[in-house]
Amino acid sequence: MSKFPYSETVLEHFRHPHNVGKMEDPDGESVVGSPACGDMVAVYIKVNAETMVIENAMFESYGCASNIATGSIITDLAKGKTLDEAKKIDWKQASAALGGLPPIKAHCSVLAVDGLRTAIQNYEEKHGLVKEKVPTTVEEINKRLKYVFNPLTGLDLVRGKLVRDITLVDGHVKIVVDLPPDHIFANNIREEIDEKISHLWDIKSVEIQFIS
Ligand code: FES
Repeated sequence: MSKFPYSETVLEHFRHPHNVGKMEDPDGESVVGSPACGDMVAVYIKVNAETMVIENAMFESYGCASNIATGSIITDLAKGKTLDEAKKIDWKQASAALGGLPPIKAHCSVLAVDGLRTAIQNYEEKHGLVKEKVPTTVEEINKRLKYVFNPLTGLDLVRGKLVRDITLVDGHVKIVVDLPPDHIFANNIREEIDEKISHLWDIKSVEIQFIS
């Protein structure tokens, strides 16, 4: 019996998580962070383009035991479901499948669900499957930059105050990042920004400038 109020299922998934690791060549992927605690989770999916069924789902976690356990359960739940079915999985379902989580850890399941939904959204954007074609705004771009991290500080670009400017004209985006062009992670950050923005349905080009 654990000293802490975790169910046996949570402990089992924490000790022996399913579907852990980085997927090579995923069809959809996400990295999301929790504002509540700063933890992060990455979710990867492989999708059958004919049937829209998620054939494989994996995750990586930089978080607590609940984060790892929910990553494990959420990828289990997603496998074999269509994208539309998987989108309906909510945090209560994830938490229930784990035999319940302490209320203070509810955000951990919210985070995992958010990771899965964002990976599905990433797949849909890449494949032109977005149904609700809402025009992209500077706010939306700024929101997405909250999921691009500077590995040196562990802070996202927005919280780290590294976004100097965003302009959006006729689907052409220009983002000015307050970092030197020879920053050790400049290329990673560039790729991450591109990955988050360029697949939006109405975005035609993304220019990223590093200025210090
Ligand atoms: Fe933050 Fe669990 S404490 S994800």
